[in-house]
Amino acid sequence: MDMLVVQGGCTLRGHVFVDGAKNAALPIMAASILLDGDIRIKRVPDLVDVQTMSLLLQSLGAEVTRSGDTLDIDTRDVACQHADYELVRRMRASVCVLGPLLARFGRASVSLPGGCNIGHRPIDLHLKGLAALGADLRIERGYVIGEASQLRGADIFLGGPGGSTVTGTCNVMAAACLAKGHTVIRAAACEPEVADLGRFLNGAGARISGLGTSTIEITGVEGLTSVTHTVVPDRIEAATFAIAAAATRGNISIHDVCPEHMASVIEALEDIGATIHVAADQLDISATGSLRSIELAALPFPEIPTDTQAQFMALMATVPGISVVTDRVFPDRFMHASELVRMGAQIRREGASVVIDGGRRLTGTSVMASDLRASAALVIAALAADGESQIRRIYHLDRGYARLEQKLNGLGASVIRRADGSAQAKRPHYLQGDSARSKGSQSQRD
Ligand code: EPZ
Repeated sequence: MDMLVVQGGCTLRGHVFVDGAKNAALPIMAASILLDGDIRIKRVPDLVDVQTMSLLLQSLGAEVTRSGDTLDIDTRDVACQHADYELVRRMRASVCVLGPLLARFGRASVSLPGGCNIGHRPIDLHLKGLAALGADLRIERGYVIGEASQLRGADIFLGGPGGSTVTGTCNVMAAACLAKGHTVIRAAACEPEVADLGRFLNGAGARISGLGTSTIEITGVEGLTSVTHTVVPDRIEAATFAIAAAATRGNISIHDVCPEHMASVIEALEDIGATIHVAADQLDISATGSLRSIELAALPFPEIPTDTQAQFMALMATVPGISVVTDRVFPDRFMHASELVRMGAQIRREGASVVIDGGRRLTGTSVMASDLRASAALVIAALAADGESQIRRIYHLDRGYARLEQKLNGLGASVIRRADGSAQAKRPHYLQGDSARSKGSQSQRD
């Protein structure tokens, strides 16, 4: 396993370019199962999750080849409809193959996704939507077994207790493309990544309208053919860099972004006191002045994304005053709070919120990542902290950020990737000398 060694006290300055959106690329790759033709997807980030989805498609019989940030996929020889636990357990988005397999082959067996550190993540709405299209679905030995001689259009309500479902909307929308008749998805997810999937499918001959709204309509067609599609910019990666700039009181330009996908994040950063200038596909942020505490809540798009909640928590730990961060999508998504507290943050949990008494200097130390966005939060805190930090289990980070250390070092940071537990991993000065105690305490953390 790798770790990141981060030197604190840094101020980010310069230019950074974001990749294509992970959460658009994954459902688009899954939906390629529906297409009978040449599929070219551009601006696909080189991430572990994308590699996992490629392996899953190949396990079904597809061909996936990468050239730079472009994927060429051929699903014409897909003959298997079984998505195995060994792959699905690595990435929940694997469930997005369920709808396309049912629509194309009339049958599917897809492992239920495993547990998740960010909270309860059922797929009941996925199953409700696909059943409404006429699929017979049952759960057997940890797998969803589905049969559908012919999917038929339906009027479906996909809302749930945590708002709509992003991948659930993707699954149902993709399946409905080949259903007979007209489908209406109400309480559909409005996230830009869902709209991007819809544009990909329309480019291949689907007939989808209402993309980006909570009511999506699909008129089924006989088949889908070739398409070349460029994935939307990753608004979460862009937000992560903007928040890191604010946490280090820096001044950076973020390129290849889609500002209209980031309105809530921009608003929150301006409320905190950052100065932001937006032009075409570039976002400039300066946070060299004093910053203010705020209250923010993560909600479905277009509100603050839950995938930026951890990063904002790290930022607010550096800002004097009482801030409150609430997550209405994943009310338990706070595993990162305890690691931030180990760095000196004053954070206490209050139900679906945390109260942050910010402004104390964070101190670098050894911390452990628990999930993808928690990892990003720990990197942000480490950049702002005094001294060196070692961030362990960064395989979580590699799922959603490509070349993060290179991008941060290009902004003036000092972030080094090392094999965890390697001899070179420098113990913080306060742990050198008393080897017996420190070895004991270190092993408890690993
Ligand atoms: C997608 O996950 C994203 N992943 C997540 O990003 C993101 O946090 C989430 O949407 C919310 O925006 C991908 O797109 C690959 P949901 P998804 O279904 O689709 C409840 C990251 O860091 N729900 O929109 O799995 C659920 O419990 C990842 O990049 C049901 O009740 O999330 C939650 O409260 C983490 N039943 C809410 O809906 C269901 O069948 C939103 O979940 C499905 C979901």
